[in-house]
Amino acid sequence: MIENLEELARDECARSSFGLAFFDEHLAIVAHYADRLAGCLGANAEVVGLASWLHDLAAVRDPKAQPEHPRLGAELAPQLLAAYRYDLTIVDQVSRAIASHSFPLQPGAATPEEVCLSQADAIAQMVRPFYWLYFVTSVRGLGYEEAKKWLVNLLASKWEALVPASRKLVGERCNSGLELLG
Ligand SMILES: [Fe+2]
Repeated sequence: MIENLEELARDECARSSFGLAFFDEHLAIVAHYADRLAGCLGANAEVVGLASWLHDLAAVRDPKAQPEHPRLGAELAPQLLAAYRYDLTIVDQVSRAIASHSFPLQPGAATPEEVCLSQADAIAQMVRPFYWLYFVTSVRGLGYEEAKKWLVNLLASKWEALVPASRKLVGERCNSGLELLG
């Protein structure tokens, strides 16, 4: 069933102004790292898998809703999951993780699934810095200098909030990304 949600996310990206690259360079990367982190964070792998495919769909559907997309995405998820008859506890956990995914959360301060998705979202941004430079210039329309500043701030602030398991997965790529940005 999770494959159906993956397919839905791929289709929605392909038909949107974000394009298929958003699926390949972000959603699929989040899903990969959420799965790798789930075990060490004690998170339910099915919940974080579903949340990975659905977490940004509110922004994909309406780019203007970007500032509010975590809340809107949390409202959208139960509608998208309804056809697959998931247990309500799973659906609630997926929504909750989506609602709080924007900044890396710490264990103990949120559910393991919220921590896992938010950490994976940050990792996905940090390991694909060139995609995010493209995203903020091309999709959001920022100028080059503004976009570079945005990305440098993003990499530095998110690195600070990563748990040790996440830092291990990002490795030296964050520093390399910052060095390449000058
Ligand atoms: Fe995301």
